[in-house]
This record gives sequence, structure tokens and C-alpha cells, in this order.
Amino acid sequence: MKIIKAKDYKDMSRKAANIISAQVIIKPDAVLGLATGGTPVGTYAQLVEWYNKGDIDFSGVTTVNLDEYRGLARGHKQSYWHFMHAHFFDYVNICPERIFMPKGDDLDEVKVCKDYDRVIENVGGIDLLLLGIGSDGHIGFNEPGGAFEPGTHCVNLTESTIEANARFFESKEEVPRQAYTMGIRTIMQARKVLMIASGEKKRDIIKKAFFGSVTPAVPASILQIHPDFILIGDEEALEGVDL
Ligand code: PGA
Repeated sequence: MKIIKAKDYKDMSRKAANIISAQVIIKPDAVLGLATGGTPVGTYAQLVEWYNKGDIDFSGVTTVNLDEYRGLARGHKQSYWHFMHAHFFDYVNICPERIFMPKGDDLDEVKVCKDYDRVIENVGGIDLLLLGIGSDGHIGFNEPGGAFEPGTHCVNLTESTIEANARFFESKEEVPRQAYTMGIRTIMQARKVLMIASGEKKRDIIKKAFFGSVTPAVPASILQIHPDFILIGDEEALEGVDL
């Protein structure tokens, strides 16, 4: 585990974008695992800026997103499909046929999950996976529980996740109660994992996840044993962490 302290959100985003662009330069046909949420917005903006300057070419890249709300159509403003296009895909030259996300509007959970695992397998697994962390320790939508779920699965979102995500919806009632998410085995099989965390509200969970025991009660804690895991946090998120 490698921890990098960034000055602030902008610096964190720039450092994360640097690692992602290095991956794409080293391997132009890289498979990137991507995340949604408030934290990666600045990272995507930085990548778009460098793309516009001609510094990165995404034409060979494949993307697989971590998760999607179950029951939201792709056109829905709060779907992760929409988020990814609004913040990243619409501004760079990633080939639309190489963009993959769980099919949120398909309610057949067995099929959706099986199909998504097959997609990830068919693209050869993930070279670099970008992750945020939920304040309950979730990664993707792998919520705290009694066991690590290996493959793509359908989850019931916890109350704390529903509350955290309500800021993106008109009201809390509109937040979907379920989501499809990549599983922990898939996350752990990513060849490199890059987590970004910003702000005081992530401070406690970072201590629990990376300085406590490895437990499915804190799903992110499993990353302690990933062979190539980098955490970039800003000063607020990493306060009190000795590097
Ligand atoms: P956030 O979400 O980036 O909006 O804080 C992180 C997460 O839930 O994984």
C-alpha cells in the first residue's frame, strides 16, 4: 500500500490524473476501471484538459465502470451512464463500443451480473481501477456486510449511502434502493488500484480501512493486501495519518 498526500482537492485530482495518463501512455489499449461520485469529478476534468492539449489519446482504451443504480435507464440524469458521459466520455476520444457499465435498466439481476462478469473477463481484466471510498467503507457499491462478495452482484444500498447520494437527487426518496456493482474479487484482480479521497468526512473511514483489520464490515480494508494499491488523499482526508 502506498499513500500519497496531496495538498488539496485540485492537487489530488492532478496526481490521480497523472497516474491514469501514465497508464494510458505505457499501454494505449489499457482497460480502465472507472468510478462515479463527487470525488473523481476533478480527475476527469484534468484528464479532459490534457486530452484537449493533445497530451493523451484514449482511442485504444476500454472502460468498465464499477457500478450502476438498478432501475435507472441510461438516459436518466442520475444514472452513472449519464454521469460518465457528462463528466468524461463526451469530451475524449474513447470509442463508444469500448465503454462498459452494468445495465441498470435491466431488472434481471442474475443476467446483468453474469453478463458484466463476462464483459470484464473478455476485455482481459482491469489494468488500472479508480476508486472512491464511501464514509461507511464501501468501494463501488460493496456495502459493509458479513462476507466479501466476489463477482458482480445486486446490492441493497445502506441508509448512509442513500443519504450521502441524496444530494444528487431532488429528494432522498428518489435515490434508488438497489445497485449493481463489481465484486471484491474483480476489484482485487485489477492489476493496479488507485483510490482518491478528499475532505474531513473521509478521515475516520480511512483510518479504519487502512490502519485497522481487514474485514468485510469495512469493504475497503481488503485493499491493504492488494499488491499495487495507491491511496491519494488530500490533507483534510489524511490528517493524522503518518506517512
Ligand atoms: P463520493 O463517493 O466521491 O461522492 O464521496 C465515494 C463513494 O461512495 O465511493
